[in-house]
Amino acid sequence: MKIEIVDAKPPKRGSLILVVGDGRQLGPFGQQVDKACGGALGKAMAAAARFTGGKGQWLEVLAPGAGLGRVLLAGLGKTTEVKPAAYEALGADGVKRLMTAGEDNLAIAAEVLKGTLLPAAEAAARAALGARLGSYRFDKYRTKLKDKDKPSLKAVAVLSPVAAAAKKMYQPLDKLADGVTITRNLVTEPANVIYPESLAVECRKLTKLGVKVEVLGEREMKKLGMGALLGVGQGSERESKLVVMQWNGGKKGGKPVSFVGKGVCFDTGGISIKPAGGMEEMKWDMAGAGAVIGTMAALAGRKAKVNAVGVVALVENMPSGTAQRPGDVVTSMSGQTIEVLNTDAEGRLILSDAMWYTQQRFKPQFMVDLATLTGAIIIALGHEHAGLFSNSDRLSEQLAASGKVEDELLWRMPLAEAYDETLKSPIADMQNIAGPGAGAGSITAAQFLQRFVVDKTPWAHLDIAGVAWSKKDKPTVPKGATGFGVRLLNRLIADHYEDR
Ligand code: BES
Ligand code: MN
Ligand code: ZN
Repeated sequence: MKIEIVDAKPPKRGSLILVVGDGRQLGPFGQQVDKACGGALGKAMAAAARFTGGKGQWLEVLAPGAGLGRVLLAGLGKTTEVKPAAYEALGADGVKRLMTAGEDNLAIAAEVLKGTLLPAAEAAARAALGARLGSYRFDKYRTKLKDKDKPSLKAVAVLSPVAAAAKKMYQPLDKLADGVTITRNLVTEPANVIYPESLAVECRKLTKLGVKVEVLGEREMKKLGMGALLGVGQGSERESKLVVMQWNGGKKGGKPVSFVGKGVCFDTGGISIKPAGGMEEMKWDMAGAGAVIGTMAALAGRKAKVNAVGVVALVENMPSGTAQRPGDVVTSMSGQTIEVLNTDAEGRLILSDAMWYTQQRFKPQFMVDLATLTGAIIIALGHEHAGLFSNSDRLSEQLAASGKVEDELLWRMPLAEAYDETLKSPIADMQNIAGPGAGAGSITAAQFLQRFVVDKTPWAHLDIAGVAWSKKDKPTVPKGATGFGVRLLNRLIADHYEDR
C-alpha cells in the first residue's frame, strides 16, 4: 500500500474521509466538498441524530453526489483538545475501515479545524504515519485468504493544504514506521524462522542504511569470556550470536548512546522448563532485541545526527543433554560468577555479558536495555506500562516523557541495595534468582542487571514483558507484536541527544 501526501483536491474515485469537530463542524475543505455535493453531508449529519462529530464517531455517506462514491465523516471531538495522536488515529482507523472494502483508492483530508492548536503540516504527517502503522498486517503464512478478506487498498492519499511542508515532516516519520514494521515482523516470526543466526542475517540488512554491523559467534564470545551468555545457549543446536550495530550520524568520535536488547529467540525455560500451555508466546522473548534493531533502522533511515550503538544478545534457551543445569556456576565477562539456580531466568544472564561488553567497548553516554525479562512486571503493571528501572533521574525523566509523547508508557520502579541480600549465593558471587519469599521479581531482576553497570554509566532497564505483545487492537497498534520501544527511543534521541 502506497501512502502519499498530496494537495487538497477531491478525489476522482474511491472514498474520501473528512474530519468533523464537535457540533458537526466542517473545515474549509469539508465545506467545499459539502457544497459540491449540494449539501448532502450536512443533511446526512442532521439525519444521523447521534453523530455530533464526537471523538471516534464515524458516519458513512454513500453516493453523496459530485462523482464521489462515498464520504466518511470522522469525528475528532472538541477541536481545542485535538492532539497529534488524534490524527494518527484518523489515518489508522480510516485505512482499517476501507482496507478490505474492495476499493483500491482512499483519500484522507487531514485538515486542521478551527480551534485546534496543531500545525496543518503536522496533522497531515501524523495521519500518514497512522495510516502506515494502523494498516500493519502479517499475512505471510496465510495461503487460503479469501479474496474478500484480502486488502484491496493500493493507494492512500493524505490531502493537505500545505502538502509540501507536510511531506517534509512525514519523511522521518516514514522511516520511523519502517523501524516499527521491522520490529513487528521480527517479533511475529516463529522461532523456526527467526533464530540467532537468521536474526543476525536480518541485522546485517541494516548495512544498506549505512549501519555498520558485526556478528560475533560462539568462538569470539568465548574468547571474550562471555560465560553467562554462552551458558544459556549451550543447550541449543543453534549457535548463539552477539550482533553489534553502529550508526555514526553524529560528531566524529563523539561518545555514542547505546541500546542493548534481550534476544531469546525461543525461551522454553531450559532444564527449568516452562509449562506447555502458552509456551508458544516465548517466540517473542526476543522483542527487546527486535526493538533495538528497529530503533537502529529508524535512526539510520532518517539519518539522525547521533552516534548510536545497538547490541543484541541472541540465543535459544533449550533443554537438552548439553543444556546448563540448575546449580551450574558460570563466569561472566565482568569476572563476576553466577550460580544459575533457575535456567528460566536466562534474560539477565545474556544481558549481563552484552551490557558489560557494550560499556567496555564503547564507553557510551548512556545505556538503555530492553527485555521481556519477567512475568512479574505483568503482575505489577499489566499491559499499559513497561517497567522502568534506572540509576539516573535525568535519563528516567527523559524516557518517561518520550513515552508519554509516543504513547509507549513507562512507569518507574525502585532500585535499592536492600534487595541485594536476596541474590546472595552460597558458592558464587550471586545467584540468578532471588531466594524463596523475596517477592519483587522484576526489581530483583533489575538489581541483578545493575551489577553489570560500570561505575556511573547512566543506565535504564525497560522490562517490556507486558507490552511487547498485545491481545487488543489500538488504532496505530494492531493486535500482536506492538513494536514497543522504537517510537520511544527514537523520540528520546530526537528530543535530547541529536546534534543541532
Ligand atoms: N521470558 C520470560 C519472562 C516472560 C514471562 C516474558 C511471560 C513474557 C511473558 C523470562 O525469561 C522468565 O522466564 N522469567 C522468569 C523468571 C523467574 C524464573 C525468576 C519468570 O518471570 O517467571
Ligand atoms: Mn525464561
Ligand atoms: Zn525469557
